[in-house]
Amino acid sequence: MKIGILTSGGDCSGLNAVIRSIGLCITENIRNVEIRGIPDGYGGLIRGESYRLQRKDFEGILHLGGTILGTSRQPFKQMTVVQDGGTRLEKMCENYRKMGLDCLFTLGGAGTHKTAALLCMEGCHVIGLPKTIDNDIYGTDVTFGFQSAVEVATESIDRIRTTAESHGRTMLVEVMGNKAGWLTLHAGLASGADAILLPEIPYEPEKICRLVEQRQKKGRGCTIIAIAEGALPKSEVKLKKEARTFVRADRGESTGTQHLAEILQQQTGVETRVSVLGYLQRGGTPCAYDRLLSSRLGGYAAMLAKEGRFGVTAAVSGNRITFNALADIAGKYKYVDPRGDLVRFGRDMGVCFGD
Ligand code: F6P
Repeated sequence: MKIGILTSGGDCSGLNAVIRSIGLCITENIRNVEIRGIPDGYGGLIRGESYRLQRKDFEGILHLGGTILGTSRQPFKQMTVVQDGGTRLEKMCENYRKMGLDCLFTLGGAGTHKTAALLCMEGCHVIGLPKTIDNDIYGTDVTFGFQSAVEVATESIDRIRTTAESHGRTMLVEVMGNKAGWLTLHAGLASGADAILLPEIPYEPEKICRLVEQRQKKGRGCTIIAIAEGALPKSEVKLKKEARTFVRADRGESTGTQHLAEILQQQTGVETRVSVLGYLQRGGTPCAYDRLLSSRLGGYAAMLAKEGRFGVTAAVSGNRITFNALADIAGKYKYVDPRGDLVRFGRDMGVCFGD
């Protein structure tokens, strides 16, 4: 049996732990198997590149951040665009066959899963694994990489709080997550943020101003606001992406976080600072939870391959590892439910969601 592994899209902690666990479980449990690493995600498959991975390649990488295979973003929309006499999808299928693969593991986020579903429709045997700090993949309770990012964001907000307290400042801490607020919600609650602003709950800047003023009146010197990179004021919700970028550029700002900071500074008079956590949340060693989760998911996926069950992606449901058909989850996303338990719990504790 010949299997390929690729990691695609934005990286996160836990990718190497999954690669290791697939590699070890496959070599321990399947006879006459050859494992090929495909570099740079779908980019490597489009170019037809792969190299042999030996058992030693899987050793000593459990705790390593990033991905030993490299990764790249290959937009889904371009997969079916004809270029140089063929589409990227056709090239990938052709190379899958030329490499003689019996199965391909694709470690990636929502976009990677959409492409994986296309490959399946073209007859390739694909097994997906749910990776992303955004935790927005449909059909799984959690993705690997998410908890490590929560730990980093939480610790960062804790650190920001001490300097905010010293200076009596308002701090806006921008958290990644694309269009989903999971990372901001978890890190915001875990660090005791005073306000948590999510893409799923459009905010009114005035509400945040009132919060800062009330805290000042009560002598609570600083205000900590965890704001998702995709959070929007109510006034911008109906704007398309281009129009929003234009409106912001017109104000001399590039992000919604900067805009809110300006409003808070001007209307409350309290010194306001922005801290963008950015790629710190994606880099570095996976936390113990992610090492274990990644290992369980990888091991499970290896067994799916042994059983010949393809066209699926590994998933977490409750405390169990299970799988979903790629066709059922591709193109769907999992967002924070504004009426869900965690938001309600935050509201009960007095957290401001800006609405
Ligand atoms: O999907 C993971 C993620 O880190 C998002 O949270 C973020 O919006 C995006 O990737 C950043 O992408 P890039 O690495 O292309 O800048």
